Formats: sequence, structure tokens, C-alpha cells
Amino acid sequence: MLDATSLLSRLDDATRAAFASIEVVDAIDSTNSELLRRRTPDSGIVALFADRQLGGRGRQGRPWASPPGANLYLSVSRRFSGELARLGGLSLVAGIACAEAMRAIGAGGVGVKWPNDLVVDDDGVLRKLGGILIEGGLQDGAVRAVIGIGLNVRMPAEAAAAIDQPWTDLQAQIDGGAPAREVVAATLLDSLAEALARFDAEGLAPFLPRFEALDMLRDAQVDALIADRMVTGVVVGIADDGALRLRADDRLQTLHAGEVRVRRRGLRQAGGSGA
Ligand code: BTN
Repeated sequence: MLDATSLLSRLDDATRAAFASIEVVDAIDSTNSELLRRRTPDSGIVALFADRQLGGRGRQGRPWASPPGANLYLSVSRRFSGELARLGGLSLVAGIACAEAMRAIGAGGVGVKWPNDLVVDDDGVLRKLGGILIEGGLQDGAVRAVIGIGLNVRMPAEAAAAIDQPWTDLQAQIDGGAPAREVVAATLLDSLAEALARFDAEGLAPFLPRFEALDMLRDAQVDALIADRMVTGVVVGIADDGALRLRADDRLQTLHAGEVRVRRRGLRQAGGSGA
């Protein structure tokens, strides 16, 4: 099981100060569901890791395979100032923080597939390393978000057999293999603490160039559902509010939420040299 003492000992001092609590449990239905059941404190971040989830949830109502002893399943919850609409940009911010953390521990090929899938390019196929599920809303009149992160560290073969999309894990992406899960977890929390505080204070603007360096959809031809119509277009980047911009039917269109399916990737690879 994930060793909480070892994890805590690896955190930056600033990160430790930013968290109201960091907890590791053996098993739970879903770390997101549990933090949604709890009250989010007025200040500070709450983190909950589970060694396994009995009902791990992905986006679009899909299940999230959560075998024990192998990967990371965590949720963090935090309050944010301002209106509920601000949470739109949070989706991108969480993906950026996670991808930068993965690069910092040696997985240099990790990028973000809008809005926040953690992916690696494998000869034009985007393989998923991790996923993020953001939930929340108003609690006691304040905006609170629960950010759930599932990260493949060392995916066991039996669990892999049940995954119905191209995937990868840190074990395959880092020369010499994945570090201990406590190292991965601490790096993630360091990165999230910085990013969430910055987003709360400054909004999405400082993250737009960071996303650009990680963007795995730029110039790709994609199918997207926009206003109930399936549209095929080429991705030209993201708007200031985090919406995906694509050129389709000879005009620019924007997608604020949802999923896109990649038909063909462009020549562009995620840039940058790490976090
Ligand atoms: C996706 O579909 O890409 C999002 C996957 C999110 C999975 C994580 S694992 C920790 C947290 N608890 C859940 O039930 N889901 C998220």
C-alpha cells in the first residue's frame, strides 16, 4: 500500500503548508465520491489517495479500472474565489499540473489531450497515461471543486486486458522504469498546490503558454460534437477561456466541453523541455 509517511516526507514545505489534510486509505468506492460527500474546508486543500477503488469513475460515466498496489488514484478538493463559471478553466489547469509533474520525474513525452487527458504519442496514436475527472459546484455558498486523478504507474497485465483504448504507464515511459508511487504522488501534489493557488489568484491567463507547450491536439484533424452536430475540423489551439478552437466548414468554431476523437495527428509534437 502507498506509504503516507514516505509521501509526506517528500513534499516541499510550501506544499505541506497548502494542504489541510493528506490521507491514504486502502479501499474506497471512489476518491471523488468520498470528497464530494465531505465538506471542503474554507481554506487549504484536502487530498485523498486510495490503494484501490471499488467503483472508480471516469468521464462520461465510464468506469475507471483501479487495481490495487499498482497505480495512483487520488482526489483533491479546494475552494475557489469568484463565480462558478471560473471552474471551466480548472480542467486545463489540472491537466497542465499533472503533465508537468510527469515530465519532472522523467516522462518527457507526456502531453495533454484537450481538455485534460494525459497522453503520450506513439507513432501517431495517443496512448492514455492518466485521466482527470473534475466535479463540484457550490457548497455553503462558495465554489468548491473535487479534482480526481487516475494515473497509470505500473498497470498489471490482468487489469490491462480490460482497457478498451490505447494506454500506457509510467513504467513504459521512463528510462529505468517508474519511481516509487510515493515519489510520483509527492511530485503531483507539489505541482497541483502551485497550480491551484496560481489559478485561484490569477485565473487561466498564465496557464495558456504552459498548455501550448503540452498541447497534443494542435494541428490534429478531429471529430467533435458541437451543438449536437458531429463536426470534423483541424485544431488551431485554445481560446482565452480554455475552449478548444477548430477550423471546420471554413470557419472557426469553439468547443467548451466534451470529448474529441482524433482522426489524424498533425506534424507538431508537444514542445518544451520539461517542467
Ligand atoms: C477519465 O475518464 O479520463 C477520468 C478518470 C478519472 C479517474 C480518477 S481515479 C481517482 C478519482 N476517483 C474516481 O472515481 N475517478 C477519479
